[in-house]
Amino acid sequence: SDNLKVTIVEVGPRDGLQNETGFVDTRSKIALIDMLSGCGFKRIEATSFVSSRWVPQMADAAEVMAGIERRAGVIYSVLAPNLKGCEAAIAARADEVAVFASASESFSRKNINCSIAESLLRFRPVVEAAKAARIPIRGYVSCVVECPYEGPVVPDAVARIAAELQALGCHEVSLGDTIGQGRPETTAAMLDAVLSAVPADRLAGHFHDTNGRALDNIKVSLERGLRVFDSAIAGLGGCPYAPGAEGNVDTVKVNSLLRQLGYETGLDDGGLSAAASFARALKRSAVRPQSLPETT
Ligand code: HMG
Ligand code: MG
Repeated sequence: SDNLKVTIVEVGPRDGLQNETGFVDTRSKIALIDMLSGCGFKRIEATSFVSSRWVPQMADAAEVMAGIERRAGVIYSVLAPNLKGCEAAIAARADEVAVFASASESFSRKNINCSIAESLLRFRPVVEAAKAARIPIRGYVSCVVECPYEGPVVPDAVARIAAELQALGCHEVSLGDTIGQGRPETTAAMLDAVLSAVPADRLAGHFHDTNGRALDNIKVSLERGLRVFDSAIAGLGGCPYAPGAEGNVDTVKVNSLLRQLGYETGLDDGGLSAAASFARALKRSAVRPQSLPETT
């Protein structure tokens, strides 16, 4: 039945690679995305149209979008923090644009250099431009459980931002446990607050696996009716200065869990393992700037 269908949004090319210290060359990024689109994903987050001073790894966003094969039925999504990013995304023929807000003031400042309120105002013209181009908008809330600068985040703060993003016109709000500190209890409390403002079929779970609790947090989300989850092939990502820290939850692990629980994802196991090997090789071979120490 429809209730047993789960969509995995593959975010490795964006959220995974953005955290790699060494620059992954554009051709490899394109090859990774093309391998992923062959696995059966219906949604792939390909890149970000952000300032290259802030995230140098995503500086080739336009080239990546121009180089990938556009497989029929696949939505190639991109991040945009402002109108400039959205206009570039439209020019690059993105199928979906994602704006990203935070539930914590400090993280908002550190990540996009403005307050939460300013970010929401800044998203208005982004939504208008996307609507005019008939491109759906996704919204993210970061730090839904904990902020790296402020510590625990109250569930009501997350609910408020999620509701604002929905009111702004986001068809879906992805709830980001940015630093992977969520436990089933804290994730459940957060979801219960958000669900009082936004229905489950307009929410996605975005878990990082820093403490190895992401799969437990996905289970708690499934129990509450969420059916869309973000994950990254081979668990791409992680902080280069925190050895052992995990990135986004690994797509292969999420797919296996969902299968065990009786859900359908429509993904091809052989394709996934080939893409995972390729992603791991990319991680090892990324060109590291001379000034940065090796961390592995
Ligand atoms: P700012 O410095 O305040 O912006 O940064 P500005 O408007 O003053 O512009 C500064 C420079 O950036 C200018 O260039 C602009 O043209 C340029 P200059 O004139 O100095 O040469 N610029 C841009 N270039 C390309 N594309 C753009 C763009 N906008 C301005 N869109 C800004 C503000 C938002 C731009 C900056 O802070 C930024 O780009 N931040 C992005 C940070 C980011 O990408 N973080 C990672 C994604 S969020 C995440 O990972 C969490 C998530 O996974 C969920 C979760 O896990 O919780 C989504
Ligand atoms: Mg993330």
